[in-house]
Amino acid sequence: MKRVDAGVDDPEDAGAIEIRGLHKSFGANEVLRGIDFHVAPGEVVCVIGPSGSGKSTLLRCVNLLEEPSAGSVRVAGVEVTGPDVDIDAVRRGIGMVFQSFNLFPHLTALGNVMIAQRRVLGRGKAEAERVARDNLERVGLADKIDAYPAQLSGGQQQRVAIARALAMGPRVMLFDEPTSALDPELVGDVLGVMRTLAEAGMTMLVVTHEMSFAREVADRVVFMDAGVVVEEGPPSQVVAAPVHERTRAFLSRVLDPAAARVGEGEPSDMFRSGEPGA
Ligand SMILES: Nc1ncnc2c1ncn2[C@@H]1O[C@H](COP(=O)(O)OP(=O)(O)OP(=O)(O)O)[C@@H](O)[C@H]1O
Ligand SMILES: [Mg+2]
Repeated sequence: MKRVDAGVDDPEDAGAIEIRGLHKSFGANEVLRGIDFHVAPGEVVCVIGPSGSGKSTLLRCVNLLEEPSAGSVRVAGVEVTGPDVDIDAVRRGIGMVFQSFNLFPHLTALGNVMIAQRRVLGRGKAEAERVARDNLERVGLADKIDAYPAQLSGGQQQRVAIARALAMGPRVMLFDEPTSALDPELVGDVLGVMRTLAEAGMTMLVVTHEMSFAREVADRVVFMDAGVVVEEGPPSQVVAAPVHERTRAFLSRVLDPAAARVGEGEPSDMFRSGEPGA
């Protein structure tokens, strides 16, 4: 793995996200067990892995929604785990998009994209509205500016949520399974917006089960299992030709769920290898 060790105190040279020796426990449950990786400026990194492997916890440690038990996290050269950090300032530089959209039901798309700009950044009404319109257009919703969330499809609501994050001018965007709550026919529009963002040079850390997105858009794919990074590299390696057995088993389940279900009915490898003469 290429490390960006030089110049980490200079935000211009620093990795967008640098994670070192990250541990996180909830009581006796050690969920992250020593994570190291970085995301370079302009890079798109997809995190894949089984349910419960710690992917969301990892993202939540990046913007300190969870406090790490040990290790360090730097965003644009600022140690978010440091004692004197202005966490609000760090969070303003991080856009986060979750599986659930969390839009205000009583506000239009425009209002939803304006409100944090006004309250958190203190922008005036005219500027906030201009930025909101630009970003709603960017996600393909120029014609839905005055619609309320209840009048929008799940995919459109998620695109409003992406516009809301972009309107804050983030240095990095974190996505946590942004399409997994959507009907299949709505997934493509959201992934299309994310692809456009990636092509425009946005730094992105994306937890996803969309393997075609990971294959086509990611610069690197990180496979996590049980709180550690098992394997990472370009998608041509991790997705197309994984080295580790755990990665192969996960991918076969994700890429071909039907076959994996059939496989569940067969004797396990452990059982077979225990048979005499097997
Ligand atoms: N706030 C919390 N308190 C206690 N345990 C938690 C908390 N958040 C997460 N966990 C536990 O941490 C482990 C990892 O959870 P996490 O949500 O990070 O997994 P994930 O990889 O995102 O899974 P999924 O693919 O299902 O979203 C789970 O065992 C979960 O129960
Ligand atoms: Mg999760």
